Amino acid sequence: MPGQKLRFPGRNYLFAPGPTHIPTEVQNAMNVPMEDHRAPDFPELVKPILKDLKKIFLTTTGTPFIFPATGTAGWEVALANTLSPGDKILTSRFGQFSHLWYDLAIRIGLEVELVDTPWGEGVPVEKFKKILAADKDKKIKAVVACHNETATGVTSDIAGLRKAMNQVKHPALLMVDGVSSIASIPFRFDKWKIDIAVSGSQKGFMLPAGLAILCFSKKALAMRKTAKCKRCFLDIQDHINTNKDGFFPYTPPVNLLRGLRASIDLLLDEGMENVFKRHNRLANGVRAAVKAWGLSLAAKSPKWHSDTVSAIWLEPGSANNKNGKKAVEVINIAYHRYNISLGAGLSQVAGKVFRIGHLGDNNEARMMAALGTVEMAMMDAGIKFRPGSGTGAAAKYWCANPNKALKKIK
Ligand SMILES: Cc1ncc(COP(=O)(O)O)c(C=O)c1O
Repeated sequence: MPGQKLRFPGRNYLFAPGPTHIPTEVQNAMNVPMEDHRAPDFPELVKPILKDLKKIFLTTTGTPFIFPATGTAGWEVALANTLSPGDKILTSRFGQFSHLWYDLAIRIGLEVELVDTPWGEGVPVEKFKKILAADKDKKIKAVVACHNETATGVTSDIAGLRKAMNQVKHPALLMVDGVSSIASIPFRFDKWKIDIAVSGSQKGFMLPAGLAILCFSKKALAMRKTAKCKRCFLDIQDHINTNKDGFFPYTPPVNLLRGLRASIDLLLDEGMENVFKRHNRLANGVRAAVKAWGLSLAAKSPKWHSDTVSAIWLEPGSANNKNGKKAVEVINIAYHRYNISLGAGLSQVAGKVFRIGHLGDNNEARMMAALGTVEMAMMDAGIKFRPGSGTGAAAKYWCANPNKALKKIK
């Protein structure tokens, strides 16, 4: 650990909502000598990855792309390859990541209709519907939505948003940030008729950061021909030209691709529906713990609850956060004393929340480590709750709801 005099025994557990733990299979797959990305058999690695990514996005019609970049670049890939400067998009802001995508859109020259929404809520579908219905000249070219707002632990209703767009017969593209939802919770590219999905490697894909992973619908792909936003490194056309033969337009991070192959195999072996169910079960246990501690979530109602991250709310000035610094204290104690990383409060919710990530390669035992350590850190920070109440409630939930996908114990 940086600055630590002695090696910290055990390993640093990652319970921030990304980067997540890397499974041994993925780690080993990446630990190989460097390879020639122009070798004649390189397409044997690349082509199946691009094909199998469709099964992760739950699409048969979409086209996946992999950029050596992060989720932020994925946002730009989506906008710059389909739109022109001055084009109008509709989006909402209810957390740091929905804010950052909005900010990026402005900075690349788009016009943005922004619906500011209280943090702790998600995409305001009804408001969007009214705005789209009033857009008679179809000036809005894209509806941009953050599926899982990682800063507040809020999941939005993308199926509902698509339905609303259909009801008012609006032709805008539907672009969805699935950075902290894809490969973890239900994300149905075809069923929800998503036009562009954006993800990154360091969350549900259980890899290091370094890949922006996207999927484009046919309609979104076609828009590259008219899109005038400037692009070079992030131009999908260069990928279209080379991916078809199993290559990249530049040197790809081959070890990350090896890891991605292993990660896709793990996800597909488990089965996407089982992956979704596992995340839901683990999240329910964490939520049971938060309730038993007498605390609440930043997500304002159960319909917004995220199955990948819980942001635990400590109201500044309240008995448990009189000095307004308790959330930061819990995070610092957890890190320095117990060697686990929790998610910090970002921007508007800084100092008001600490976050437990429950996405990626997790099971009950690992989540127990998170909950038990959070209890110790909260005790140390002087937060009032009954020690053992959260771990007890989670244990009760998980024992009553075992992972049905696992082999039955005789
Ligand atoms: C929902 C969401 N979108 C986008 C991003 C940005 O991704 P990156 O940090 O990989 O650029 C993040 C990062 O945490 C995120 O949680």
